[in-house]
Amino acid sequence: MPNEIVRNNRQVPVISFFGTRGGVGKSTIAQYVAELLLSAPGTDGNGPSVLLVDLDVHHRQLTRQYMESTFANSPTFNDLVSLDDPSKVCALNVTAQVKIQKGTSDDRNGELYFIPSASREDVDAYLTGAKADPGRVKEIMVTALQQAVDSHQVSCIVIDCTAIIDMYTAVAAEISDAALCITLAEPAAFDRVDDQSARISAIRPQFSDGFMKTVVNKYLRADRLDDLKKTRDIYHAIPFTKEVLDETEGFDNIDELRLAIFKDYVVQLLEKVFRFQWPELIPPPSIAFPAYITHLATIAPRLKNSRWMKILRAGIHLTWIGLLLSVIGIGGLTYSSRMPSNVTESERTRDLSYTEVAAYSYFTDRTATSNASILFLLFGGVMLSAGLTARKRNALLNVAIDSLVQEREIWLMRQLEKGKKEQRTVMRLFEMSKGLPETNQFLERQI
Ligand SMILES: Nc1ncnc2c1ncn2[C@@H]1O[C@H](COP(=O)(O)OP(=O)(O)OP(=O)(O)O)[C@@H](O)[C@H]1O
Ligand SMILES: [Mg+2]
Repeated sequence: MPNEIVRNNRQVPVISFFGTRGGVGKSTIAQYVAELLLSAPGTDGNGPSVLLVDLDVHHRQLTRQYMESTFANSPTFNDLVSLDDPSKVCALNVTAQVKIQKGTSDDRNGELYFIPSASREDVDAYLTGAKADPGRVKEIMVTALQQAVDSHQVSCIVIDCTAIIDMYTAVAAEISDAALCITLAEPAAFDRVDDQSARISAIRPQFSDGFMKTVVNKYLRADRLDDLKKTRDIYHAIPFTKEVLDETEGFDNIDELRLAIFKDYVVQLLEKVFRFQWPELIPPPSIAFPAYITHLATIAPRLKNSRWMKILRAGIHLTWIGLLLSVIGIGGLTYSSRMPSNVTESERTRDLSYTEVAAYSYFTDRTATSNASILFLLFGGVMLSAGLTARKRNALLNVAIDSLVQEREIWLMRQLEKGKKEQRTVMRLFEMSKGLPETNQFLERQI
């Protein structure tokens, strides 16, 4: 059912996050959704302003995060219900705490406004909602949100709910255009999506089950996800970023890269939510990329001139040298095997006649020739294999650099998610970029 909140005669979308249990990632996803939305194109040249609402009166995670550092004391949503007065709503501007910014200074981001759930002192906050009339809670919620939208020209509302279905959660589901139920892939969490929908409908029969969409978060194995897809529609899935990128590949900035992967998935989620009705609210994929990923994509054509690529190209010549040495070695061994060898060990120990001396020197020549041939063969083999390895690596990196030049950051992000082999290639590209003057300048600018 479309909500009734409007701005400039256009419906303002409400996107809410529910969960099948605690710790599934509701608040983290809600926060990044709200912050990334600020970088969407919007309609009037400015990024859209966003209203983030914390309705989790139990954990108050976002309230703690955005409010307690500012020492602000504005009315919470729970206060509005307990005062029965939505006009007291105060959405606090928390844009200064947003870390995600567009790349260039010309871009105008939207502002982030925040309504807290309950104050720390409000220890029985959950009772306020439990005792209230559901219809009245809905009126208070819609009126308060509309007032905040009017006061701050808000283009989108994002709501973080608690894991259990309480009055606020049920009403939020009812007014949402996208009610997203975050769950884990494990059965104990995954099988509870329908229960959550049923519980909401029990409080607000107006809520239609079809509106609750399943988002699997922190999944570990893609094949397990495929099995789950056979049992119910999965709207979106976000991997467990620690599993995607583990410590073994040795990236310096692993936390930033993991966050970039997470943001990339959140941007994809927003694309699904808004693509038909609110395309202006889809942030550009580039917003998820850290600065040095963009730097790497920008200098990609120069990577072919990096020291490592030069070494690899030189290394390819080892193939021919190795081949030559091996041929000489094989030739030498064949020749030495045809040389006569009729001197026995006992004969060598006694006095030798003239003919015997000649035969003995023949013997030592043969040994020396075969020894030298073996050495040639050995060195040749080592050089051949080094040359072939250099050839293979050079080809692989050339393909990687060409893909990076063409597809830029998107290609890098997809490689990071693919697997260990691809991550090693990205790691190598990072390492290669370090020797270039452009990278030194970039690093200086970052400091
Ligand atoms: N895809 C992910 N990969 C790795 N870590 C994640 C992912 N999503 C969330 N997390 C981490 O999981 C933890 C729990 O997330 P969060 O607090 O957002 O869950 P929640 O559902 O809001 O919990 P609660 O029910 O307590 O409110 C956080 O430390 C968060 O950083
Ligand atoms: Mg939370």
